[in-house]
Amino acid sequence: MRTPFIAGNWKMNKTVSEAVVLVDELKAALSGVPASSVDIAVCPAFVALTSVKPALAGSSIKLGAQNAYYEPKGAYTGEVSIGMLTGIVDYIIIGHSERRQIFGETDALVNKKVLAVIAAGLLPIMCIGETLAENEAGQTEAVLERQTRDGLVNVSPADIAKVTIAYEPIWAIGTGRAATSDDAQNRCAFVRAQVRLKYGDLADQVRIQYGGSVTPANAKELLAKPDIDGALVGGASLKAGDFSAIVKAVAAQ
Ligand code: PGA
Repeated sequence: MRTPFIAGNWKMNKTVSEAVVLVDELKAALSGVPASSVDIAVCPAFVALTSVKPALAGSSIKLGAQNAYYEPKGAYTGEVSIGMLTGIVDYIIIGHSERRQIFGETDALVNKKVLAVIAAGLLPIMCIGETLAENEAGQTEAVLERQTRDGLVNVSPADIAKVTIAYEPIWAIGTGRAATSDDAQNRCAFVRAQVRLKYGDLADQVRIQYGGSVTPANAKELLAKPDIDGALVGGASLKAGDFSAIVKAVAAQ
């Protein structure tokens, strides 16, 4: 009932011209994938968005941003508003762990951004996930419960299905050490249960991605799990062959 969703988070990689080359490679690699079988998005850096947008024309690949600020405009040096992204992107990643850890984003800020993305008619990908220390201290569920609850404050039942939640254990990001498929499934099921507490059966419409060292080698097993509705892919999304192999792993299921 949920269409799988594979998103590539390019992070601070690729110049504008490199981004366009990667999109051309992706279009070719993904041309045989039926659009109805999987939703696909790429999230380049801000500067590349307006060049990547026309390069994606004629494909089913959607465009996303990696961040945005919730205020509509004003004296916020260095920030990009959601309104500036409207008409360019469909998705905006909110609260990635790198934003939280390096740039100090809090659950309250993440929530403001999620609400503003929805209000603009765009689709947030809200990232959550525990650190290694939290994991080892047995706090994973408490962290996921808090991040899910506080990130979704004032998101109405009518809007909840617009939210994609990306469960990304921080210790798995960029480390080559993905969660096991069973652990990832259990965490994603736990997150869905948190959504269900507030939204009831609408939780069945919310897509929950796994992220953290997803590769062509582990994608099939992860994405076969019932509560894992897709993947947020970092490193492997920078290579057309790897990203398309991950997409094809889910499209074939
Ligand atoms: P990774 O990054 O695939 O390189 O681990 C995932 C992410 O940070 O979204």
